[in-house]
Amino acid sequence: MAKVLLVNGSPHENGCVSTAMDEIISTLNQNGIETEKLWLGVKPMADCIACGQCQKNGRCVFDDEVNKIAAKLDEYDGIIVGSPVYYGGPNGRLTSFMDRLFFSVPKSRFSGKFGAAIVSCRRGGSTAAFERLNQYFLMENMHVVASQYWNQVHGSNAEQVRQDEEGMQTMRTLAANMAFLIHAKQKALESGLEQPVYEKSVFTNFIR
Ligand SMILES: Cc1cc2nc3c(=O)[nH]c(=O)nc-3n(C[C@H](O)[C@H](O)[C@H](O)COP(=O)(O)O)c2cc1C
Repeated sequence: MAKVLLVNGSPHENGCVSTAMDEIISTLNQNGIETEKLWLGVKPMADCIACGQCQKNGRCVFDDEVNKIAAKLDEYDGIIVGSPVYYGGPNGRLTSFMDRLFFSVPKSRFSGKFGAAIVSCRRGGSTAAFERLNQYFLMENMHVVASQYWNQVHGSNAEQVRQDEEGMQTMRTLAANMAFLIHAKQKALESGLEQPVYEKSVFTNFIR
C-alpha cells in the first residue's frame, strides 16, 4: 500500500499543526493511503554544520531522526511537513531537520515522490513560511501537490484550528489531491510509463 510520511516540526505534539495533519491523515486513509506521523519533539534539533561528512559516509554525523528517516525513505510515496509560523517563517526545528535530511540523502532518492508543506499561524506570515518549506521539494525532482488554497490553518490551539473550516477543508483537499496523484502515478508506471531519466547534473557557481 502506498505510504505518506507526515513530519510535525511543532513543539506541541497535539497542537495546531498536529490537528491539521490529523485531518490530512484521515482523508489519505479514506483514499487507501497508509500514513506515518513523526513528531520531532521538544529537544533541540542539531542544525547542519556543513562538515560534508554525509557526502562521504552517506549519513549525517548527528545520528538522530534524520538518519532514521533517511534509512526508510524508500518506503514513502509522499512527504508532508508541517510547521507553526515563527516570525513569518517555519520553525528552526523543522528547517534544521530538513536541511540535514535533504543534504545528506542523494537527490535520486527523493525524485518522483510527492511533497507538500502545511503551516499554522495565529494571524500572519503563513505564505512566507509555506514558500520556504516548498523550496526543499522543488530542487529534488519531487512533485509538489496543491490544494484549493495555500496550505494554511489559523489558530493558537487545536480547538481554534478545528473551527477554521476553510483551513480544514484545504487540508482535506490537499490529501485528496495527493492520494489521487499517488494512485495515478502507480497506474501510469504499471501501464509502462517510465520515470524521467535525468541528465548528469550540471553544478556551477556564479564566481565571476
Ligand atoms: C516564537 C513564536 C513566534 C510566532 N510567530 C508568529 C507569527 O509570525 N505569526 C503568527 O501568526 N503566529 C505566530 N506565532 C503563533 C504560532 O504560529 C501559532 O500559534 C501556531 O498555530 C502554533 O502551532 P502549534 O500549536 O502546532 O505549535 C508564533 C509563536 C511563537 C511561539
